[in-house]
Amino acid sequence: MNGPGKDFQFPKGFLWGAATAAHQIEGSPLADGAGPSIWTRFAHTPGMTMNGDTGDVACDHYRRWQDDVKLMRELGLQAYRFSVSWSRILPEGSGRVNQAGLDFYSRLVDALLENGIEPLLTLYHWDLPAALDDRGGWLNRDSADWFAEYGSVLYRALDGRVKKWVTLNEPWVVTDGGYLHGALAPGHRSKYEAPIASHNLMRAHGAAVQAYRAEGKHEIGLVVNIEPKYPASDSAADAAAVARAHAYMNEQYLHPALLGRYPVQLQEIFGDAWPQWPDADFDLIRQPLDFVGINYYTRSVTRADDSYPLNAGAVRQPLGTYSETGWEVFPQGLTDLLLWFKNTYGDIPVYITENGAAFFDPPVAEEGRIRDPLRIDYLRKHLRAIHDAIASGVDVRGYMAWSLLDNLEWSLGYSKRFGIVHVNYDSQQRTPKDSALWYGRVIASHGRHLADPLPD
Ligand code: BGC
Repeated sequence: MNGPGKDFQFPKGFLWGAATAAHQIEGSPLADGAGPSIWTRFAHTPGMTMNGDTGDVACDHYRRWQDDVKLMRELGLQAYRFSVSWSRILPEGSGRVNQAGLDFYSRLVDALLENGIEPLLTLYHWDLPAALDDRGGWLNRDSADWFAEYGSVLYRALDGRVKKWVTLNEPWVVTDGGYLHGALAPGHRSKYEAPIASHNLMRAHGAAVQAYRAEGKHEIGLVVNIEPKYPASDSAADAAAVARAHAYMNEQYLHPALLGRYPVQLQEIFGDAWPQWPDADFDLIRQPLDFVGINYYTRSVTRADDSYPLNAGAVRQPLGTYSETGWEVFPQGLTDLLLWFKNTYGDIPVYITENGAAFFDPPVAEEGRIRDPLRIDYLRKHLRAIHDAIASGVDVRGYMAWSLLDNLEWSLGYSKRFGIVHVNYDSQQRTPKDSALWYGRVIASHGRHLADPLPD
């Protein structure tokens, strides 16, 4: 499929960009009247993050945003996906608006537009205002109203300039990491809480889309992280494990958002912790969406194994290539996933809103160059996989590499580098890695450069 001579030109209007998230890059979390978020609180709780790393400085983007926008332009990016920190806008989570917080994002959006870069704005990338967590956070049904209120403040301020909006980033991670396993903020571990948090996240998504229809004129969608689950064998037990893992990770959010119901396996998975939901909730959750954003990193080969949650274990591939986060590099999975998405949910436009990998990067060489061939190979294979999906009829409209900058990898602190641009955390110097320069050539050629051999 990917043989020599193939033309990798992408469809007209395909949007090429890179992504970040507020807590991972901004730093200065309490500046200019902002309130703390659950991540400020979590990271400052001893033992919660690797090396005690916090987002207090991160990439100092809150103060260096102008240089970062300039860098994006130099790299040739056409789009930039970023998230807004809710507690900069509403320090208590609802009620009082902090104008200085709004101004920060307003200036950022202006600078992007002046540089010909299209903003994609995510409302929620995991940093709930701590004040709302004190009121129960995502376990409180009022969270849908809080989120719609917050969204409306931003729609009114920015919809004239921001044309692509995202409600939630990866509700699965918010719940699985934050309420079931506890590795992410707010650090709860409860199978009784997880379904409630998920459901309220989806109600909040629906409420924010409804509010957008009242206030906004452009496009809004949901971003999910999904990964195909392949059976480790052809046994019935492994097939059932795949169905559970697939329902839990891939269908738990897309089904209610797009079909208005949960997959049946969730009842089996959560047992007595799975509540009966009011029917009316699904009318709120299922709102017409303009697009779906898919974050893709890896696949899972799954087998029945009751030493794992869901009785579904992941099987390591002896011949596989694995990234620094222990994720298998499997580009074909992205093509498979996109075809599954289209077959299951129909012709909704899709953006790949995150895709990338942490690999060990050698230090900056004397000539200022950072050779990251594994990352180039990763991005190149995944872009080719997307091209295959487009050729098979999936309406993929854009690609956002994760990430523009090396940044704070949540509980893993600064130990994992996903950036196409290297960040020296002592000097805050940015150095485009070879992958950034290569990606710039891909963008300039509208994909054609993907046919060329890997650079030296
Ligand atoms: C998240 C990012 C994260 C990346 C790599 C995604 O789940 O949206 O915030 O850094 O994966 O783990």
